[in-house]
Amino acid sequence: MTFKEKTQRFFKALRDGGTAGAMGDVRQHEPMSRHTTMKAGGDADLLVVPQNIDELRQTVLAAHRAGLPVIVLGGSNIIVRDGGIAGVVVKLSRLNRIRLIGTDRIEAEAGVLLPRLARAAARAGLSGLEFAIGIPGTVGGSIVMNAGTREGELAPRVESVTLMRPDGELVTLERETLRFRYRRAELPQGCVVSARFALQPAPAADIEATMNRMLGVRTATQPLHSPSAGCVFKNPPGDSAGRLIEAAGLKGYRIGDAQVSERHANFIINRGHARTHDILTLIRHVGRQVERQFGVTLELEVKIIGRSAARPKRVPRPLKGRARRRSDVSSAQTMGSS
Ligand code: EPU
Repeated sequence: MTFKEKTQRFFKALRDGGTAGAMGDVRQHEPMSRHTTMKAGGDADLLVVPQNIDELRQTVLAAHRAGLPVIVLGGSNIIVRDGGIAGVVVKLSRLNRIRLIGTDRIEAEAGVLLPRLARAAARAGLSGLEFAIGIPGTVGGSIVMNAGTREGELAPRVESVTLMRPDGELVTLERETLRFRYRRAELPQGCVVSARFALQPAPAADIEATMNRMLGVRTATQPLHSPSAGCVFKNPPGDSAGRLIEAAGLKGYRIGDAQVSERHANFIINRGHARTHDILTLIRHVGRQVERQFGVTLELEVKIIGRSAARPKRVPRPLKGRARRRSDVSSAQTMGSS
């Protein structure tokens, strides 16, 4: 089946499911530079922004029926290749409700941004999420990544996580069954739709003060106002990737519009129109230099997804007096896995 046929099937399945009319946003060939904090990457074949859980379910089932892969994205900890993403990208920004439960718990849908959740918890006089104030991720992505800083991580605060399985069923996993590791969670197949956090009551003014202090430190030490995907590498045991990259003399090193941040060397910032090809070349260069100079192999924290870009087509020039060589008309397209 061609992509066009699969897309037609997808739209038909949405209509049959009865939600096509209500669907908030379905776009074709949508640039991922608009949906990632790195502000780079090629087009998603299809991008869907469901308005609610029911529309999310319809999207997942329709894609499945059409034979299209589905990727659910927060957009903050990923780098999308220049060839874009095959299939359906689902963005959960409309699943953005926050709800207080009793006196010491808070529930948030997957599309809620962590700083908003941290502020809401503070206003409600609930302590435990102060560290999340400077993390530019969504609740969904941050659960999957067990996002954190030196001040804390999500894992100890999570009471339960609700997932949508590929068959559209919702399952709620309680904390005893959840396995969190350094910057990742072991979750069954599916996508996070909401999470519930257990926090401690405390004076709102104290929580706000702690949060503002943490935000001040982060703004001073990290390039929070430039597009980036957050920390590129995980910290190796007992050391800091940022320290090693700076010691390797790479602060400010630039390829095209991709640059190792002058403020924190474990960030790569987009100075304007960075191509993912340049960002990935820079990441490889940094990794090699650190390995060569210090013998430390850095492991990626960011996720890299999508297809490699098609090689630029060479325009065949009319050849006079000799046969055309095959390479003059080559238009090879490399399809990477996502
Ligand atoms: N350092 C340098 N040069 C740099 C950056 C850092 O020498 O360019 C040194 C610092 O001076 C410090 C040490 O490295 O002595 C650690 O630096 P920092 O306190 O900035 O923390 P980090 O280990 O680099 C971790 C998290 C960050 C989080 C910060 C602050 C990881 C991989 N990084 O960084 O998380 O914001 O602590 O709590 O876990 C992220 O996950 O995206 C992220 C940025």
